[in-house]
Order: sequence, then structure tokens, then C-alpha cells
Amino acid sequence: MKIAVAGTGYVGLSVALLLAQHNEVTAVDIIPRKVELLNHGVSPIVDNEISDFLTKNDSGERPLNFVATLDTNQAYSDAEYVVIATPTNYDPQKNYFDTSSVEDAIRAVRKVNNTAWIVVKSTVPVGYTDGIRESFGDNHIIFSPEFLRESTALYDNLHPTRIVVGAPRDDKQAVGAAEKFADLLDEGAAPEEHSRINHDGSKGIQKLVVGCTEAEAIKLFANTYLALRVAYFNELDTYAEVRGLDTSAIIKGVGMDPRIGSHYNDPSFGYGGYCLPKDSKQLLANFDKVPQNLIAAIVESNRTRKDFIAEEAIKLVEGIAKPVIGVYRLTMKRGSDNYRQSSIQGVMKRIKAKGITVLVYEPTLDAPDFFGSEVTHDLDDFKKRCDLIVANRWNDDLKDVNDKVYTRDLERNQ
Ligand SMILES: NC(=O)c1ccc[n+]([C@@H]2O[C@H](COP(=O)([O-])OP(=O)(O)OC[C@H]3O[C@@H](n4cnc5c(N)ncnc54)[C@H](O)[C@@H]3O)[C@@H](O)[C@H]2O)c1
Repeated sequence: MKIAVAGTGYVGLSVALLLAQHNEVTAVDIIPRKVELLNHGVSPIVDNEISDFLTKNDSGERPLNFVATLDTNQAYSDAEYVVIATPTNYDPQKNYFDTSSVEDAIRAVRKVNNTAWIVVKSTVPVGYTDGIRESFGDNHIIFSPEFLRESTALYDNLHPTRIVVGAPRDDKQAVGAAEKFADLLDEGAAPEEHSRINHDGSKGIQKLVVGCTEAEAIKLFANTYLALRVAYFNELDTYAEVRGLDTSAIIKGVGMDPRIGSHYNDPSFGYGGYCLPKDSKQLLANFDKVPQNLIAAIVESNRTRKDFIAEEAIKLVEGIAKPVIGVYRLTMKRGSDNYRQSSIQGVMKRIKAKGITVLVYEPTLDAPDFFGSEVTHDLDDFKKRCDLIVANRWNDDLKDVNDKVYTRDLERNQ
């Protein structure tokens, strides 16, 4: 089957490569450099499976049917499915996602192809797909939430937690297209996933076809739950730090209850990354006129945590004339090359607002400064020049300056 994918970021590229194992896939982007890299078998993002797939494809080991292009007409004209995975950044002015790139892609598809099923994989506000079907007068648009994690994007699609596709329940044709799309994703998954046994005893990857609006809600409620969990363990840690208690002992004991579990519980400077901050804010906006306390509290809790971390860091340099606080990595997670909306940036902003000099160590940033703060790639020099180093995530290369490091990461003590 011919499939086109709009956007070659984390979502678009991983879905494109997954589908290219059994289909003819053309991926479209608006950035020439990305297209060029992809057509030379090089991944524009750090992701082991993506690099592996592209290299093996290049050397003919894994017969992927995949090409990247800037040419929308060529990509979209004879595709049966077009997957849209373009950005939906949160617009703080409108208090809503900016979905214009999704609409641009839909228009580009319909210019040359009136019959393709368009599957929106970008995260969108609750109610968006039904609205766009109506405003575009187009009943060939469906929605499928994406649950991958950055850095393991293709891995997560090869081993999906579940496959969800949304289509209007009263539109048999759309439901059929949704089921077929779910099967395409399932077909691309790693072979062992087809015989896995799930918690409820069912075999294989669980597939769920629901209404478009329910599918959109699944995505935003899932990410907001993850944000809640991070915020919860961060507030636990704030409490422990203020009261002089051992965070790791408390978390260990709390997590021994299997209903809570000992995963996804390492304190940080706040939840961050591209998705959790914007998705939780979008869900809060969708709660307009619906009673709630928790969703607003999650968003607020993340701000409070960054205020707290910045205040604690500032206390540690009190009394030092012209202190320098070092930011060890701008990235959100270990092993990531991405620092979109990372929480340490919020901490950095608060420290700078107090007039304190910040020096950034970020080896993946090829620029002399970051928002006016000097960037260095020289770790030894960084360690020497900083009075205090703030690190959202601990790394053993900080061991020799342990006394200078402020982190809440439990890995430090392991
Ligand atoms: N990154 C994640 O972990 C993740 C997980 C689940 C869902 N999502 C959602 O998926 C969407 C994409 O996220 P991402 O992280 O892959 O974004 P990304 O920024 O990594 O990639 C988006 C790509 O789309 C391209 N693009 C922009 N406009 C285009 C157009 N009109 N036609 C073709 N290409 C276009 C951009 O150049 C970019 O390469 C967002 O809505 C995001 O919320 C992301």
C-alpha cells in the first residue's frame, strides 16, 4: 500500500519507518536538510532504532520501502493513507494548541488527492478532529494518538503499549479505515508482540477503535496522568527536603504497594519535554466550564516545583560574591539530544532573574550562548568556574565535584 507521512520528527519518522517494512512510504518535511539526511540513511534525531533501520536500509539488509521528499504533490497524490505528524505547539496567547501545521498538511493533501484517508497523529485538542471534519467538509479524516517516548520513538512503535484509533462511531466507512490503520501499525510491530500475553490475559497488541473525541481525550488524559505522577513524587521530595527526610526511603516504601509501583518516581526539577507541559495545559483549557481541581493543580505544581528548586539553589550560593551557577545539561532526560521545554530551563530563568550568572554545559548545543548565558563544551573548565552546579539528572562524570552539585535525582546515591 502507498502511504505518505507529513513530518519527519519523532512521531512521523518512527511511524514512517515502522510502516515502510510492509508498505511503500514517502515521508514529507519542509526542512530540506532533514530530507537530505534521511535519503542518505542518516537520522536527524538521536534514536538507536531509527538509525539502525535507516543504515540497514541503506546497506540493503532490511528491505525498507522508504523515501523522503519536500514535494507534497508527489508524496500525497497516490497515497491511500496520509499520516500527519506535524507540530502542535501550545500557544500561550490563545491558551490552546496551534494546529495550523496540521491544517496546512490537510490542505496540501486535498489539493492533489480527494480519497486518501488522513490520519492525524499529532496531539490535538479534545474535539478537534470532529471539528475539522465539519469545517473542511471532509469525512475522510480520522485520529490516532501517539504514545511514544523521545529517544525510544521507533522502539516504542515496535513494542507498543496499545494501538488506539479514533473514528466517528456512526460512520462505518471511517471505522473500517480506522481498523485497517490499526492493523497496519500492528503488522509493523516486532514479531514477538503478536504473541505477548497482556494483563487481562488477552494475546497480542491490544487495539482500541473509539470515537475521535474519546481518542483525543485518551491522549491528553494519559499524558496528564504522567505529569501528575511526576508532580506527585516531586512534591513528596520537596516535603522531604524541607523537613530533612530521606526521599529515597519514603519513595521506596510508598512504591512497595503494587497499586503504586516503584517505577516513574525519580524526583526531578519538574516535568518537561515537548509533550507533558503542553498536553496538560491543553487538557486544562478543554476543561472550560467543567468542574475540576486536579488538572489545574498539576500545572500549578510544576511551577511551584521550579520555584522551589531555584530558591534552594540560590540559597546555596548566598554569601558568595558574584556567584556562578552552572547548568549541567539542558536536556530533559538522560541519553536525549532534545531540550524542548526542559524543566532546567525554567530553573535557569528563575536564577537569572535574581541577577546571578549562569554558565551552561551542553555538548549538543552548537552556539556560544543560550538566552544570553555562556555555553561551554569544556567540562573541566565548567567545573572549575562554577560555584554550584545544578543537574536535573545526575551523571557519574560529576563525581569529582559532588560537593558542588545540587540535584534531586536519586541516581546520585546509587
Ligand atoms: N515527541 C514526542 O514524544 C511525541 C509523542 C506523542 C505525540 N507527539 C505529538 O506529535 C506531533 C509531532 O511531534 P514531534 O515530536 O514528532 O515533532 P517534531 O518537531 O520532532 O517534528 C515535526 C516535523 O514536522 C515538520 N513539519 C512542520 N510543518 C509541516 C508540514 N506542513 N508538512 C510536513 N512537515 C511539516 C517539521 O519540520 C518537523 O520536522 C505533535 O503534535 C506532538 O505533540 C509527540
